[in-house]
Amino acid sequence: MKTKPLILSALLMGSAAYAGAPALTTDSGSPVGSNQNSKTAGPRGGILLEDFHLIEKLARFDRERIPERVVHARGVGAYGTFESAGDFSQLTRASIFSAKGKKTPMFVRFSTVIHPQGSPETVRDPRGFALKFYTDEGNWDLVGNNLPIFFIRDAIKFPDMVHSLKPSPITNRQDPNRFFDFFSHQPESTHMLTQVYSDLGIPANYRQMNGHGVHSFKFVNAKGEVRYVKFNWKSQQGVKSLTAEEATRTQGQDFQHATHDLYESIGKGKLPSWELTAQVLDPKDLDSFSFDPLDATKVWPEDKAPSISLGKFTLERTPDNFFEETEQAAFSPGVMPPGIEPSEDRLLQGRLFSYADTQRYRVGANYQSLPVNRARASVNNNNQGGSMNAGNTKSDVNYEPSITRETEDAPAYLLARMPLNGTTQQAGISKTDNFSQAGAFYLALSPAEKERLVKNLAADLGQVRDARVKARMVGFFYSANAEYGTRLAKAVGIKVDDAKAAIAPLASR
Ligand code: HEM
Repeated sequence: MKTKPLILSALLMGSAAYAGAPALTTDSGSPVGSNQNSKTAGPRGGILLEDFHLIEKLARFDRERIPERVVHARGVGAYGTFESAGDFSQLTRASIFSAKGKKTPMFVRFSTVIHPQGSPETVRDPRGFALKFYTDEGNWDLVGNNLPIFFIRDAIKFPDMVHSLKPSPITNRQDPNRFFDFFSHQPESTHMLTQVYSDLGIPANYRQMNGHGVHSFKFVNAKGEVRYVKFNWKSQQGVKSLTAEEATRTQGQDFQHATHDLYESIGKGKLPSWELTAQVLDPKDLDSFSFDPLDATKVWPEDKAPSISLGKFTLERTPDNFFEETEQAAFSPGVMPPGIEPSEDRLLQGRLFSYADTQRYRVGANYQSLPVNRARASVNNNNQGGSMNAGNTKSDVNYEPSITRETEDAPAYLLARMPLNGTTQQAGISKTDNFSQAGAFYLALSPAEKERLVKNLAADLGQVRDARVKARMVGFFYSANAEYGTRLAKAVGIKVDDAKAAIAPLASR
């Protein structure tokens, strides 16, 4: 057992230490004589390089930050438990869904997207809602948002989109001129922009918002049968938003109100929970929609793919240390246990690469061995070395196959097969249907909600100086719904005919 030297010598030397407190130590465990004064060469001399404690303290301080997440930098996390509503083995072999009442521990991180770590939590932005389930057959990361769809449908556009939404590289200010310039070339963004500028764009807190996996994934059962699936999770606290005016007031009082809300509510035992649901689609029905169901800019209508309840999760405990757990947490859409696989959604396909890649850079090659990321299932492979390796190599047979058969692959877990046809290509999807779901979303709003949507949009779009960009954007919203576009045109001083003319050349693309 490690003994903790008492601060007797410090007391003898008249320092302000408290009797009986354990001694402060260096990182290597030696007691520190003085944490108040550096070691100098006499009363006037310089500080000595040999003051190892001082150098270690400053050097560690210099390295306290790791790069923040390139997006979703500001966040807050909590641990919880998922409880399965039944035995879903007909649909998936995923062990998390194998029996009614089965409990799986999890970690959740909420976030805003565009602005850096210390930015206000009142911004208009999608909210990240990432779930990590520590299942008994390996982790499952369901890295979702509070909105059910996304701005773009192909990962190749993501870096450009984020550059346009982030502050300008010249002025360091976020600028509607830049992001609307980008979006005026992406008619498929109309649906997501409509939702972001609606009340849903500023959730009142993280407890009162829904979550969505956005993409389609695959459920695969033990027979290898595949169904496409979309995951959604519904807040049991209801959904609440802030108007732009309420957000301004809230931000003036507390720029981290959503973090406060989560810590306080869990601290008082008011544990937030969500119902996890799935919409399931037979692969043979993929072509029966007016849109492409694997397009991440679309929701699946309930009448074509009704939701079934998979279970409920409840958040129960905030982390002991923000940096160690929340900041170093690494979620990746590619992390899936047997029974859950990616679909061919082109946005998801890019995400499968991007997250683990950034995490190897942001946290380090061994990020999956940190307690918050570590699988609760045993990890047994020959990946080795790298910085911060805590060592899991127990044998010199660090290769496979070997006559010793210390590890071997398990053919029962081969991934689902997928029929292919056609040629390789670089072409957009054929059924784009960019506007009808945005129009349906607008129509379902109350008169007051419609008014706020137009006002919120006009506040940003009205700042755009280039009339061509403004006209194209209004043209997109007009294509979603003529009343919506006409009201917006009026609010930003554009003629509807100019807006229609501006997008006419895009129709043939
Ligand atoms: C975070 C890339 C689309 C939700 C991130 C990070 C990257 C990234 C690099 C930082 C990860 C880290 O440092 O740990 C991308 C790319 C996308 C994309 C390339 C499109 C091709 C989406 C979509 C959603 C989403 C569609 C929602 C369904 C999130 C969330 C986080 C995140 C919730 C924060 C995870 C956390 O709390 O640590 N994304 N993203 N992203 N992304 Fe995406």
